[in-house]
Amino acid sequence: MIKVLVNGANGRMGSEVVTAIGNDQQLELVGAIDRDSDLASAIKDTGAQVVVDFTIASAGFENTKIIIAAGACPVIGTSGFQEAQVNELKALAQAKKLGGLIAPNFSVGAVLMMKFSAEAAKYMPDVEVIEAHSTQKEDSPSGTALRTAEMIAQARTSNPEPTSDKEIVPGARGASLHEVPLHSIRLPGVVAQQTVMFGGLSETLKIEHNSQHRSSFMPGVCLACKRVVDEQELHYGLEYLL
Ligand SMILES: NC(=O)c1ccc[n+]([C@@H]2O[C@H](COP(=O)([O-])OP(=O)(O)OC[C@H]3O[C@@H](n4cnc5c(N)ncnc54)[C@H](O)[C@@H]3O)[C@@H](O)[C@H]2O)c1
Repeated sequence: MIKVLVNGANGRMGSEVVTAIGNDQQLELVGAIDRDSDLASAIKDTGAQVVVDFTIASAGFENTKIIIAAGACPVIGTSGFQEAQVNELKALAQAKKLGGLIAPNFSVGAVLMMKFSAEAAKYMPDVEVIEAHSTQKEDSPSGTALRTAEMIAQARTSNPEPTSDKEIVPGARGASLHEVPLHSIRLPGVVAQQTVMFGGLSETLKIEHNSQHRSSFMPGVCLACKRVVDEQELHYGLEYLL
């Protein structure tokens, strides 16, 4: 049994993770903590091999550093990581030969949506991303949208067509990363949705993913907990462990 500690256990995702770990025969829940606990002490006291963190964007980076310093494998669902932060954490994990995962999205369907989008971008470079989450989401655009834009940029073999940057209302064309416009919708009632819309000569292609419930992320979280203990590096993206 792999010993797992859950950080952010009182939250919407954390509480789902606690249930999912409890139901998995290969995983043992050794602790469920939240913001009122000391993470480093909890890892030491429980002997956790893996720490799952679903907390808040402003705490994710520091939490991951604490987990690595304590010698546990991080499985991080918290969003909001910058590329430089991911690289720093990869180096820290590598120095300790520790496996780990930071995943902008733990749902298998969403990972496939990103993979298919990267494939389509080889042939259709003109693409925009529209994502929707609940009003309680702290960061915009979502980590999934950022990762999708990165994967599209890596896969593109030609440049997108230039578009007018004249906005009657500022922000109308959304944000832009690697020449991929990103549009964030925040509405009550939404869990997580993303549409990647491509345009070509007289045709469009839409690749869409919907998470109907937070349980959709749990198979990916449990898989990561089992796989990271055999890894010797920190990966960014669930696709590396699928
Ligand atoms: N990777 C994915 O697949 C995925 C899916 C959904 C949500 N998320 C991300 O997961 C995170 C949590 O989402 P949520 O909907 O559960 O939020 P939430 O607000 O319901 O829960 C967050 C929990 O973290 C706790 N917390 C805050 N700061 C903390 C700290 N420093 N130490 C310990 N606990 C702390 C809060 O008290 C709360 O219980 C967000 O960053 C969200 O964007 C990721």
